[in-house]
Formats: sequence, C-alpha cells, structure tokens
Amino acid sequence: MSKIEINNVYKIFGNNPSSVLPMVKDGATKDEILEQTGHTVGLDNVSLKIKEGETFVCMGLSGSGKSTLIRHLNRLIDPTDGEILVEGTNVMSLDKDKLIEFRRHKMSMVFQRFGLFPHKTVIQNVGYGLEMQGKSEDERNKISMEKIDAVGLTGFENQYPAQLSGGMQQRVGLARALATDTDIMLMDEAFSALDPLIRSDMQKQLIDLQAELKKTIVFITHDLDESLRLGDHIGILNSGKLVQVGTPEEIIMNPADDYVKAFVKDVNRAKVIKAKIIMKTADQANDIDKSNLIKVNEDEFIEDFLPKIVCSDSNCEVVDKSGNVKGYISNKELQSSLTRS
Ligand SMILES: Nc1ncnc2c1ncn2[C@@H]1O[C@H](COP(=O)(O)OP(=O)(O)OP(=O)(O)O)[C@@H](O)[C@H]1O
Ligand SMILES: [Mg+2]
Repeated sequence: MSKIEINNVYKIFGNNPSSVLPMVKDGATKDEILEQTGHTVGLDNVSLKIKEGETFVCMGLSGSGKSTLIRHLNRLIDPTDGEILVEGTNVMSLDKDKLIEFRRHKMSMVFQRFGLFPHKTVIQNVGYGLEMQGKSEDERNKISMEKIDAVGLTGFENQYPAQLSGGMQQRVGLARALATDTDIMLMDEAFSALDPLIRSDMQKQLIDLQAELKKTIVFITHDLDESLRLGDHIGILNSGKLVQVGTPEEIIMNPADDYVKAFVKDVNRAKVIKAKIIMKTADQANDIDKSNLIKVNEDEFIEDFLPKIVCSDSNCEVVDKSGNVKGYISNKELQSSLTRS
C-alpha cells in the first residue's frame, strides 16, 4: 500500500468550481478556463503514489500548483473532484475531530511563507505542535531546544519572529516540523529563503535525518539541483497538470516534454547519473571492446569515475559491491550521454 495516494484530483478556484469542472475534464486549458469563466485551474487530473519512507519532490514553475497539491494532503484545501488517501484513509472522510488528530500526529508542515505565530517566541513556536499533542511544558522545552539547536538557532530561543531574518524564520518552521516527529513531513519551499551555504547544510541535515528516521517527505522546490539531491522520485507540474513522475535519472535521461527539458537542460548530468543507468548488460555489449577495461562500481556517479577514463581509450566494466560484473560502458557513448539533451 502506498503511504499517500492521489487519484484524479482536480482543484478549481473561483465562485462555482463544479460548474467549470466538465470543461476542464473535456480538456480546456488553464488559460481558456480563466478567460472564459474567470476560474483558475489549480490542479488538473493529478494522480500519484508516494511510498512509505521516500522523499517525493514536487517541482514546477511559479503558479504550476505545487502548494495547492501539498495542501490537499492535510486538507488545508479540499479537492473539487478526486480522492486523497493517506495510509488508505480517504482524508475527505475524516470528521472534524479526526482531522485535528490527523494533523497533530500524522503530518507536520513547513510552510512556504513560514507560518509562525508573531506573538510567540521561537521556543514557543517550535513547541506549538507538541503543546497540541498534549506534552508538558518541560518536555516541550526540552525537545524544542534540541530542534532549535539542530537548525542552528541556539541563543535565539526567546526572540520573536519579527526579530529574525527570513532564513532564520524558515529554520524555526523547520524545527517546529521536526519537533512533532510525525511520519509524514510536508515541506513547501522549506529551504528557498535560506542563503546558499545554510541551504546546502540544511539539505545535508535532511538527508542524514532521513537516512535514520525514514519519514515520508513531500518536498516542494523550484530548484532542480535541490530536487535531484533530495528526491527518490520527482513529480513535475505544469499549469496544474502532472507532466512527469520519475527517479532523478529518469527525469534527466528521458524528459517527457519541452517543459521538463527546459528544467533539466543545464543540469550537470555527470553529477546525477550513476554507472548502472548508462551501462549495457553483457548481452547488449558485444560491440564494446573488452581488451582494456577500467572497473567502476555500479553506484558511482559519472563525475566520480570520468577522470579515470577521460584520458584513455579504455571502456568501463561495471561491477557491484561484491565485484560481480553487471555490465559495460563504452568510453565514446559515455561522452555522448553527457551531452545529449
Ligand atoms: N486561494 C486561491 N484562490 C484562487 N486561486 C488560487 C488560490 N491558491 C492558488 N491559486 C491559483 O492556483 C494556481 C496554483 O497556485 P499554487 O500556489 O499552488 O502555485 P505554486 O506552484 O505553489 O507557485 P509558487 O512557486 O509561486 O509558490 C495559481 O494559478 C494560483 O493563482
Ligand atoms: Mg507555492
């Protein structure tokens, strides 16, 4: 069973969304709908599955529907049509009490625009979810201080949000989400307000945390490098439509359309493609000269083994951890895979 499953979800914003739904289902575009009816298509027939313990990254240009999508998961937004299942439960079936319970214990969220309480201090903001979970003040403060420390804000715990920079407020939001220790974390542009060094540091922290805790994370970003770094799978939205879902390698090797191509065109392929993705298996590799082979591990990124072969004519023999031969890469084809778009 998927941890999260979204089936044929439509979201239309405006005075009378259901009256517009048939037009959207008939294939009218977002622009046509806006022009003819004044309604905005937020999501257009989105279906996807997210596995337990994976980081699913949602990418797309501004206005493509990323925040709208993530807000359906904890029902900050109700769909115009379609269903959202979390651990098999249709979130639309939750009554008020169950929904409160679900938001407190199942999911935490880091908001794009921080969403902090202005009249609460940093430590009170971080501890808010714990307070809602019924934890005592001592326990709250202990956990909150740990998380404040984890995001590098020790010393600021008694300040108010307005006294902090945008990046610092974003880290308070992150600490608050970490504090509640829910198994699903929704992160809407969680790192976008951070400067590059802290951003890269926070990405690393999230990867380390994830390796240990195996939470299910839905992470929104504009940034392709961030999505490649964090995502087990990446979904790409364009005008409310999910145009491609795949692993980072799949997105880069086979972009589904021009929109996805535009996203991936400047990526450094060598950084994100592993040997096993481009190798040929033994029976496909008859044309590869095996007289002078250089061994590479199947999980090595091209960037890491390229220097070994770039000044030679040697082809690569791809092996697994135990040294078993898994396939071959021709030196020449490797060069072309790096430039193909
Ligand atoms: N409450 C709302 N009322 C009306 N239209 C909305 C509302 N929320 C979102 N929209 C519209 O839905 C579309 C998707 O918006 P959304 O905020 O999900 O985009 P996004 O991908 O998160 O963009 P950004 O990267 O700028 O945050 C946009 O066209 C937006 O104008
Ligand atoms: Mg958004």
